[in-house]
Amino acid sequence: MAQSHRTFIRFLLNDRPVELSGFAPDLSLLDWLRINQRLTGTKEGCAEGDCGACTVLVGRLDNGILTYETINACIRFVGSLDATHVVTIEHLNRPDGALSAVQQAMVDNHGSQCGFCTPGIVASLHGLWLSDPEPTEADIERALQGNLCRCTGYEPIVKAAVAAAKTIPSEDNDRLVAGYATTIATLTDFADGARVTIDSERGTTFLPADVDDLADIYDANPDATIVAGSTDVGLWVTKHMREIAPVIFIGHLAGLQQISFDETGVTLGAGVSYTAARGALIAAFPQMAEIWDRIGGEQVRNMGTVGGNIANGSPIGDTPPPLIALDASVTLRKGKARRTLPLEAFFIEYGKQDRQQGEFVESIAIPALDEDAFFAVYKISKRRDEDISALCAAFHVTTDAQGLVVSARLAFGGMAGTPKRAPTAEAALIGQPWSWDTIQIARAALAEDFQPLSDWRASADYRMLSAQNLMIRFFLETCGAPVRIERHPALAEA
Ligand SMILES: Cc1cc2nc3c(=O)[nH]c(=O)nc-3n(C[C@H](O)[C@H](O)[C@H](O)COP(=O)(O)OP(=O)(O)OC[C@H]3O[C@@H](n4cnc5c(N)ncnc54)[C@H](O)[C@@H]3O)c2cc1C
Ligand code: FES
Ligand code: FES
Repeated sequence: MAQSHRTFIRFLLNDRPVELSGFAPDLSLLDWLRINQRLTGTKEGCAEGDCGACTVLVGRLDNGILTYETINACIRFVGSLDATHVVTIEHLNRPDGALSAVQQAMVDNHGSQCGFCTPGIVASLHGLWLSDPEPTEADIERALQGNLCRCTGYEPIVKAAVAAAKTIPSEDNDRLVAGYATTIATLTDFADGARVTIDSERGTTFLPADVDDLADIYDANPDATIVAGSTDVGLWVTKHMREIAPVIFIGHLAGLQQISFDETGVTLGAGVSYTAARGALIAAFPQMAEIWDRIGGEQVRNMGTVGGNIANGSPIGDTPPPLIALDASVTLRKGKARRTLPLEAFFIEYGKQDRQQGEFVESIAIPALDEDAFFAVYKISKRRDEDISALCAAFHVTTDAQGLVVSARLAFGGMAGTPKRAPTAEAALIGQPWSWDTIQIARAALAEDFQPLSDWRASADYRMLSAQNLMIRFFLETCGAPVRIERHPALAEA
């Protein structure tokens, strides 16, 4: 049970503390900033986390260290901001009121035309400028994946980021750096470990004091909506007009943000964001690097969690296929009771997961890869960046000293109503040499495992052919020898 109890949240908005109560659980930060605070520098473009016009920085304390991350204010709920520092474009100029290094570089490099995207782009580049003193072009592009500009073109914007990096953030040229000590003291004071309950006409908002408190609150309110990063739930509100109250926010719970990483594998608390997980995950599974950086844009990765990607039960989430291929398990908790099951068993059918009322995802454990295992993940989407998969495939194969396949876990997203393994194709591999002929048989067997759907992301035929071709790609990348490839008949005729 929580030790203390509040009926309001408090956070820093630019340079002033704010105390709020009585607000609706689905009040977005963007609406509150623009309508209530009249801070209209932050723009609304898509209201679904795609365009980045609404980008602001949110600072929070992690073990006493203050870090600022970019987020999409359009899909972030105000209730999740307790004990944070919200920084809008109005607060990103220099302490003396002059343009910041990023703003000046945008002017000097002609990084803005109509200007609608510019506050969001400046916020994203400011976040990069603060966190990375020597960004590479790849770092800059990653920071801008979630910011769409329809008129300027990105070259001047990238040049502005490079130019801004020549100035080192300091107390003289940046308000956030100048305010570090005061902000840390204020946020430490705000983070008092209390349970927060806020009642409004539109329903109740809960912020549990800790994970035990979350278990109690959810057990007592099993119909509540858990909100972690809100990168799915935000859209339920802005696009589907769904009622989500009562809401339990969990994004602030340090107990769900633990990452343990050793030779046995990686365990992620359900509340670990993509950004926070990146280092440990890529160290353990370098093959995940590309797909990880193609999940949403930077703002979505700063907010979205692996636990949310699993709990939402989507057949096209990007983490279940690789995690299933790696034989990950998920730990669920209801009250004081915990149970652990293989992740693949969690997904029962479309829209149905093995999760009881009042039960939440607590952690995900991913066993380490054997040194000589073959593992790869592939994402097929219409756009390279910030697009949902039409198809995601993850392959994990081990062979013995004779080169015979000992184990095979082939997991797919976008091929069925749930993320799913391919048992017939796997069986076609087991005991066989890891060879071109074997992969042809397994490739054909895939048609017995799946009857994919056609939708706006891809046709059924495209999905099946891509899945089969990815198996060939995996083989070519792992067989260690040059292979003669039969040309497709259509190409042979050309
Ligand atoms: C612009 C944009 C781009 C995106 N791109 C991708 C992409 O490329 N690939 C991809 O896979 N996804 C993508 N997504 C979807 C989304 O970011 C992910 O699914 C994300 O992992 C959801 O996590 P979250 O913490 O934001 O979940 P939330 O929105 O907070 O919650 C999602 C669901 O999970 C439940 N939930 C959350 N945590 C728990 C828990 N611990 N226990 C029980 N239930 C829980 C919630 O109640 C809700 O039902 C994108 C979203 C946006 C807006
Ligand atoms: S308004 Fe487009 S990402 Fe928020
Ligand atoms: S300057 Fe017009 S959208 Fe970027």
